[in-house]
Amino acid sequence: MKFSSRQLILAVGAGAAVLITGLGMTGHAAAQTAGKGPTYSGVANSRTPAGQYFKAVNTSTLKVLSVDDFLQAMGVMAAGLGFDCSDCHPGAGSDTVNWVIDTPKKITARKMTEMVATINKTNFGGAQMVTCWTCHHGREVPTTSITLDHLYAAPYDEKDDIVLPGKGVPTPAQTLDKYVAAVGGAAKLAGLKSFIATGGATGYEKLGGGGTFQIFAQAPDKHSVTITFKDHPERGDSTRSFDGKQGWIRTPRGLFTDYELVGTELNGARVDALLAFPGQIKTALTGMHSGFTDTIDDKSVEVVQGSAPGNELVTLYFDQKSGLLTRMVRFGNTPIGHSPTQVDYADYRDVGGIKFPFKYTFSWLDGKDAFTINDVKVNVPIDASKFGKPGGK
Ligand code: HEC
Ligand code: HEC
Repeated sequence: MKFSSRQLILAVGAGAAVLITGLGMTGHAAAQTAGKGPTYSGVANSRTPAGQYFKAVNTSTLKVLSVDDFLQAMGVMAAGLGFDCSDCHPGAGSDTVNWVIDTPKKITARKMTEMVATINKTNFGGAQMVTCWTCHHGREVPTTSITLDHLYAAPYDEKDDIVLPGKGVPTPAQTLDKYVAAVGGAAKLAGLKSFIATGGATGYEKLGGGGTFQIFAQAPDKHSVTITFKDHPERGDSTRSFDGKQGWIRTPRGLFTDYELVGTELNGARVDALLAFPGQIKTALTGMHSGFTDTIDDKSVEVVQGSAPGNELVTLYFDQKSGLLTRMVRFGNTPIGHSPTQVDYADYRDVGGIKFPFKYTFSWLDGKDAFTINDVKVNVPIDASKFGKPGGK
């Protein structure tokens, strides 16, 4: 059986999976043999540059990254070529994995990495315009010529990372005001200081089995999500937390079980925390502009893009009819391509005059978790430890 890259990455080590993402890989990692590999301990020191932390990371482009950003870059590579980790690292997903040895593909990938960095530096003023995906488009070897059957066919339908400014569309302020009104109005939202949401989570197309989750959120920017597998206590809890400054991820049974976010995922954690409170949406992002009206699931959506702290590009999609937020995509930065995370919101329900999405899915380069909320409590006190390092110091 050929494992998909999502399966493998989980199997590889929750550390990697986590970095490349969020939560939920726990279930999956448990379902697979967690290949810890011979070289890493369970707790990563994200602040050490990848070139020092790892044994054989030596491209000028990647060796300077933090460990968590380096693993994001691995996810970008794999996705760009439609690869599993094991396509470049033999045994990934098993106990025999050896991350260090150089395979022919790894050697080529090093060259390609430096090539991509050089192309962007010399042709695009350092902006990240060319990535692995640009040429590879999910293939091992890029195609060279068009298949004539496709000559007049529609082009690829990937959405642009950078949304082109739309004409004759509502301004960002108009779209955001409509959203604020739709979820309950500014006055109601100003009174929302905290909430606890609980429910059930499924990860990896249910492969990991069901878990229960708790979301804690406190305005303006504290947020955490914990998934627990009651029927499988051996899996331990997965937690992703952000205390307004620092962020952590805990995933048992991984390459790295505990991890402090220091790279691009820290910016993402902040975006998630800020956007948990709709009243903050107008100040969470800067430099906003509106794109042309788009469609998601055959419904028209208004598109607003802006930047979050740390230069994290964020695109918001609002249902044109209801005004409600239906999708958020944030783009983590790695030197070889963006690492996108997408959250889709649905089933908005009223809780004391404010609408909360009772269903949402969290998708990243290597997986997808689905959350169904069954209870939301608002303005309840939350212990500060919920937002700190999982398990304390
Ligand atoms: C296209 C090939 C390719 C794929 C796919 C790939 N890697 Fe890598 N990996 C590399 C290269 C190249 C390096 C060395 C980078 C350098 O020298 O800067 C590396 C290095 C590593 C290292 C450091 C090992 C050490 O101690 O030196 C780890 C850990 C790693 N990769 C994990 C992963 C994970 C997890 C995945 C799946 C998400 C993955 N890789 C997918 C090419 C790949
Ligand atoms: C400018 C276009 C371009 C970009 C960008 C690019 N590649 Fe490639 N890549 C190629 C071409 C063309 C080949 C085939 C070369 C050949 O067959 O000799 C290739 C081949 C490869 C191969 C070997 C595949 C095989 O089995 O023969 C790997 C691995 C690879 N690229 C990794 C990457 C990674 C990782 C990135 C991003 C860091 C990347 N490439 C970005 C054009 C590109």
